[in-house]
Amino acid sequence: MAGRIPREFIDDLIARVDLVDLIEARIPLKKAGSNYQARCPFHSEKTPSFNVNRDKQLYHCFGCGAHGNAIGFLMDYERQSFVEAVETLADSLGLDVPREAETGERRERETEARPLYEVQEQAAEFYARQLREHPEAARAREYLKRRGLSGEIAKRFQLGFAPPGWRSLPDTLSAENLLAAGLFISKEGGQYYDRFRDRIMFPIRDRRGRVIGFGGRVLGEETPKYLNSPETPLFKKHKEVYGLFELLESRQKIERILVVEGYMDVIALAQHDIHYAVATLGTATSADHATLLFRYARELVFCFDGDKAGRNAAWKALEASLPALREGRSIRFLMLPEGHDPDSLVREQGREDFEQRLAKAQPLSDYFFQHLSEDLDLGSIEGRASLYQAAKQLIDKLPQGVFREMMQSRLKELTGYGKVEAQASSARLKPWVQKSDSSRARPSTLRVILALLIQNPNWFELIDLETRSALRRAEKAGILVTKLFELLDEKPDIRCAGIEERFREEAEDAQVKKLSAMEIPLSGEEARAEFRDALAQFCKQQREKRLEALLAKQAREGLGEEERIELKHLFKQQVTKS
Ligand code: UTP
Ligand code: MN
Repeated sequence: MAGRIPREFIDDLIARVDLVDLIEARIPLKKAGSNYQARCPFHSEKTPSFNVNRDKQLYHCFGCGAHGNAIGFLMDYERQSFVEAVETLADSLGLDVPREAETGERRERETEARPLYEVQEQAAEFYARQLREHPEAARAREYLKRRGLSGEIAKRFQLGFAPPGWRSLPDTLSAENLLAAGLFISKEGGQYYDRFRDRIMFPIRDRRGRVIGFGGRVLGEETPKYLNSPETPLFKKHKEVYGLFELLESRQKIERILVVEGYMDVIALAQHDIHYAVATLGTATSADHATLLFRYARELVFCFDGDKAGRNAAWKALEASLPALREGRSIRFLMLPEGHDPDSLVREQGREDFEQRLAKAQPLSDYFFQHLSEDLDLGSIEGRASLYQAAKQLIDKLPQGVFREMMQSRLKELTGYGKVEAQASSARLKPWVQKSDSSRARPSTLRVILALLIQNPNWFELIDLETRSALRRAEKAGILVTKLFELLDEKPDIRCAGIEERFREEAEDAQVKKLSAMEIPLSGEEARAEFRDALAQFCKQQREKRLEALLAKQAREGLGEEERIELKHLFKQQVTKS
């Protein structure tokens, strides 16, 4: 098997391919100023908010936040793996992909995963075949028919049947792999038996269509009703949803994604031509789920049973997804009549009725204040104070932006207390506020510096050594600054897309993407002047902080000799440099 692809080669690919050409070959782009625009291929929208920037070699969607370089685009748009994307790009330049000798953790992870994917796929094919051919499968087919499912839908979801015996999976599959995939359970004496027996099988696929686990339902009333694959390296329940691949496969326009609780709900809805539902995997909705789904639609509708458990689950989903609620995204809640789930409701009332309910689903903001005020008397100070406490804490989890401010102002209306955050912070950066979208909070000086630097890596040489080390030490800099500076030292010619590539597997990946996507509404020369200003501003802020710390110490306990000299020096600079 091939070894790791050398990093240099990937750097080189990213530097040589042209993202505009790459995307244009797949989606028509329109030139708009220095950018190219299109309607976003990752979510459905009427006005184009998908931008491709030739200088940065990055794409970015202001609607859904989709973002990346050429490799990322192929991974997301064509659902290629990292290696496939590198191969596609190399192909387009007529290059062969070189491989290093096989080492490295990543390689190990990939070789470990491959047999697991294979065994899951083969098991899914086996179960699907049993549904058609096994002598006992008539019961299963009967069961599915009784629940209103057609053969076509069963095929689309690759439904299967696990036969009743203890050992039905074919001997051609390796026991070791079956065990690792969670399809075998081991018993004493080195023996194994099938985890899934006499059950309808629901393969769970990742968004690229690879089977990563199963759910299995009994045909009768036995317990547990559903049995699920255990978590494996491929299968993380809080990160995956059921039905996403099938939804994307349907190739229909996705206006919204409906999040339901059960496998059967997704399938019954699809049977009634509602192709945009996915289900969590027997777990609560997580922040990862919300983030994943917002890549494909700007609206999520969480659908829960109307009973107490459903209401609890809805509130949990709200709490988990608040941080994912960036501008342009929305969440609504659909509570079903008691005793119904989406499956029973759509079968009883039909598609139209279901979609009408959906259209009336409650916006998150409504549900938020309604739920929090439920047992409170807002006529009393105590009631309003409780509401304020509970709401404030949650609103603080929302990203900066218009929605957050509106929630703050609603809270203020309801309680008569609190403040709506003013936009601008204290930084002095002049043209920013007027020129940039006023709904966004102004970034800190450090972030401005880092954004400008990542977007113009060759400006690294404009930062003198003293300032570099001050930046590295800055409280908010974290390890990102150190890593970035190392990279820029090593590769002074690297460009924005190349920097992103180097951070792909690093913890700071998301931070880097945000910085490279930050809109800088200034022309080349202005931007460079801004960069110098920001550096000066940063140094001044650092001096002031240090000065204050020293003054405080002086008042508290007195200063040592060196500190006194430093303080004097700082005072002098304060006068000359400000
Ligand atoms: P429900 O109990 O609501 O079942 O479980 P359902 O979806 O209505 O199923 P049907 O209509 O009776 O076939 C919802 C989800 O919770 C998980 C499964 O993911 C299921 O789809 N679950 C439920 C389990 O993991 N184990 C169980 O025993 C029950
Ligand atoms: Mn049900």
